[in-house]
Amino acid sequence: MKTVLERDGAERISERLLLYRAPHPRQVATFADDVRSGLCAPTKHLPPKYLYDALGSALFEAICQLPEYYLTRAESEILARDAGAILDAVGAPLEIVELGSGSAQKTRVLIEEALRRQELLTYRPIDISASALVGSAGSLIASYEQLIVTAYASDYFDVLLDGGLGRAPGSRVLALFLGSNIGNYDPPRARMLLRALAQALRPGDCLLLGADLKKDVRVLELAYDDPTGVTAAFNKNLLGRINRELGGTFDLRAFAHTARYQPLSGSVDSFLIASHAHDVRVEGLSLTVRFEHGEPIHTESSHKFSPEDIEELGKITGFAVTRQWRDAAERFGLWLLRVV
Ligand code: TRP
Repeated sequence: MKTVLERDGAERISERLLLYRAPHPRQVATFADDVRSGLCAPTKHLPPKYLYDALGSALFEAICQLPEYYLTRAESEILARDAGAILDAVGAPLEIVELGSGSAQKTRVLIEEALRRQELLTYRPIDISASALVGSAGSLIASYEQLIVTAYASDYFDVLLDGGLGRAPGSRVLALFLGSNIGNYDPPRARMLLRALAQALRPGDCLLLGADLKKDVRVLELAYDDPTGVTAAFNKNLLGRINRELGGTFDLRAFAHTARYQPLSGSVDSFLIASHAHDVRVEGLSLTVRFEHGEPIHTESSHKFSPEDIEELGKITGFAVTRQWRDAAERFGLWLLRVV
């Protein structure tokens, strides 16, 4: 399809689909910079946002099908049951903004409820993966004739801090931050992100926040280290991505995926662990990295929350909790917070 460039740099992909992209050179520099600083640090680490290239996004969709990874199903169960109550609590007319939309499968039920209450709906998804974004936005506009999509392929902070979120006058914004994505930020950054969101919104606007509840350690660890090995593949794809995009020479078989619940931080931490001492060359960074036997690369922490944790997080970032819903097995929660 031929796309038309708008005056502000947006790509008009179709009549009802507009795409804003983070400037490309900045993205590439950021991945290279983050890989260099993460692999040169005394405790090696890589930022989880880079897990989601096209292959990583596809592998994450597969994770959501696993019996052990209950998060997505539990959240979908709540949405299927309570979407009407959620939209009643927000009030119409509204626009939906979504941080980290992925395939936007869960968003459909909210879009359908909104279109029952108003003629037209603007949906503004923000996602780091342009490929996931264009794919999901395309199928959404094909499904709903009264839907207008303005998509942002970017890091959330860039859109929120640049004041990039537009809105129609007179409408209220419902921001979605689902999938316990909030748990992937360390607590200070989670607070920064919610503060930036509260500032980009207006008093009365709402945030629907999905968060995984604290629970039995065995249940948590299985969700992040499944016997099928899909999560291991998802995590190792980060090294594959360094090979593909930065000329890395990682042998993916020389690393093992592990996930451990840390009771003090309340998070499941994922690592890639070197099975023997060896050097890895990353040509695009002119860098050789030494790995010791058993040395970990920390790739992600998934924080788990108690209801009190969410109340507290809302309070210190400019929100008040108005309502809360859980799945029948009480594994996962959706909180509706209002900007105060
Ligand atoms: N946001 C997801 C979560 O924290 C991502 C995820 C699932 C993940 N499994 C993972 C990230 C394993 C790294 C490793 O639940």
